[in-house]
Amino acid sequence: MLAEKRIVITGAGSGIGRATSILAASYGAKVVCVDISDGVNDTVTEIERNGGSALAIAADVSDEAAVIEFIEHCISQFGGIDGIYANAGVSGGRKSLTELTVEDWQRTLAVNTVGVFLAIKHSAPHFIGQGHGAIVCTASVAGLRANAGGVDYSASKAGVISIVQTTAYQLYGTGVRINAICPGLIETGMTKPTFDMARARGSEDKIGQINPAKRYGQPQEIGEAACFLLSDRASYVNGHALPVDGGLSASHPWVFPRK
Ligand SMILES: NC(=O)c1ccc[n+]([C@@H]2O[C@H](COP(=O)([O-])OP(=O)(O)OC[C@H]3O[C@@H](n4cnc5c(N)ncnc54)[C@H](O)[C@@H]3O)[C@@H](O)[C@H]2O)c1
Repeated sequence: MLAEKRIVITGAGSGIGRATSILAASYGAKVVCVDISDGVNDTVTEIERNGGSALAIAADVSDEAAVIEFIEHCISQFGGIDGIYANAGVSGGRKSLTELTVEDWQRTLAVNTVGVFLAIKHSAPHFIGQGHGAIVCTASVAGLRANAGGVDYSASKAGVISIVQTTAYQLYGTGVRINAICPGLIETGMTKPTFDMARARGSEDKIGQINPAKRYGQPQEIGEAACFLLSDRASYVNGHALPVDGGLSASHPWVFPRK
């Protein structure tokens, strides 16, 4: 599905970014794995062990100079770039409204929203120049509805959806597509505290029960959606925010049946 595609994936050191990197490489992509954490080296080792091609880059997606550098590195290393998945994100710590500080807001927005903007800003000129390219961004169901994160996190993800919709029109007629994925609850590094707490309480079977799929998701399930959107198979999908959430965001408020 991604044969010969050269793809940059941020947040590739863990969770959704790692799973997508491994999957994209298995679909034939050359992957540039970017993360602020060392975990990115393990992702590349795993890809190479499977016979794939990847490069690890340590960078902070909220640092504009670093973003310019990793995109240029990808272009010089692989001779170009066909897609970027702006996925790196932070949870914001789930503080309540009155506990949140301006500094908390700035930290959350810097990674989740400005980081996405910078990835788009500095990859778009290259994509426009060659007349094609696919941009995918990780938003969240928290960007669509309440109750999936703190106010700062949710606003940062609503911002990602807005950036995607607005950018699709900024890229009018260029041949470049941009889409967002809105994951529901996925078991990753970010949600580990929630899973650890539930397991410690013996209530693991309660996690993910409020969506009609009646379970939480795995990072690979987001990765499959990301690989599709990065591929030419999604050639007419543009400006879209795709929930991958077991159906969670399809509902009005309801009380799920308890036995
Ligand atoms: N896990 C979920 O339930 C869920 C739901 C909706 C959306 N998301 C979103 O999915 C994306 C991936 O998160 P995940 O769940 O895989 O979590 P994760 O913590 O497992 O992975 C996030 C990765 O992003 C990296 N990162 C954080 N800040 C960075 C920075 N400034 N520069 C570069 N890398 C940075 C981290 O080091 C980490 O490797 C995030 O944008 C998150 O908000 C997750």
